[in-house]
Amino acid sequence: MDLPMHPGQELARRFFTGTSSTYDRVVRITTFGQDHRWKKAILDMIPKNSDQNVLDLACGTGILSLAIAKKVSSVAGIDLIEESVGIARDKAVSNNTGNTSFIVSAAETIPYAEKQFDLVTASYLPKYGDLEQIVVEIARVLKPNGRMVMHDFAYPSNFFMKVLWKIHFKILRLAGRFVPSWKEVFFELDNVIYRSRWIDELSTALLRNHFKEIQIRRLTFGTAAIVSATLG
Ligand SMILES: C[S@@+](CC[C@H](N)C(=O)[O-])C[C@H]1O[C@@H](n2cnc3c(N)ncnc32)[C@H](O)[C@@H]1O
Repeated sequence: MDLPMHPGQELARRFFTGTSSTYDRVVRITTFGQDHRWKKAILDMIPKNSDQNVLDLACGTGILSLAIAKKVSSVAGIDLIEESVGIARDKAVSNNTGNTSFIVSAAETIPYAEKQFDLVTASYLPKYGDLEQIVVEIARVLKPNGRMVMHDFAYPSNFFMKVLWKIHFKILRLAGRFVPSWKEVFFELDNVIYRSRWIDELSTALLRNHFKEIQIRRLTFGTAAIVSATLG
């Protein structure tokens, strides 16, 4: 059955169409390297040489998927944007990372059969996705006792961080005037993060879908968070 498109998917398509070739550089520069630290925090949750099959939702250009692939049996990545998926595939070929596969798909309709994966990850998906539907799908494709780990930005509550955050986005908006492909992201992301209630929505959806051991870890003075949980 075809689901109507969630507004977050339309936003993600608008934001990330045409940004794939510059994505890796832009995310590194605009997060001052924090993206690498946040992804490392996800990687540290995965045991080395583990016999796990992992699904990375909203894999983009495969930064996280390819890093996870070094530690596990296999990684499947899915993303809305064909160009990003193509870049992830090319990187896998040039890095000789044979245990990965990448396909175009929405996270709300995961194109895999039941109980295939030990772990589902997602970095920067929650603020765009239909979290209730995504969690239903994650619960379907996870094996019993499988885990899910999601990461995204969070709006800081600390006064000084808020001031720094505002300055950062002012500079990004200025930069957006000179980088047309990123203009919409740089202008609107601040407001998207401000309006997002993804941590609460995800926690509610996880409880409703029989996940347990829900843990919320705040990172970099509350500017990002990782939520993890185990399927009961
Ligand atoms: C900021 S990028 C993050 C890419 C990658 N996870 C990373 O950390 O580098 C956000 C990605 O989420 C994807 N995305 C957003 N909503 C999605 C959805 N509902 N289903 C699949 N992909 C989605 C976008 O296409 C985009 O590639």
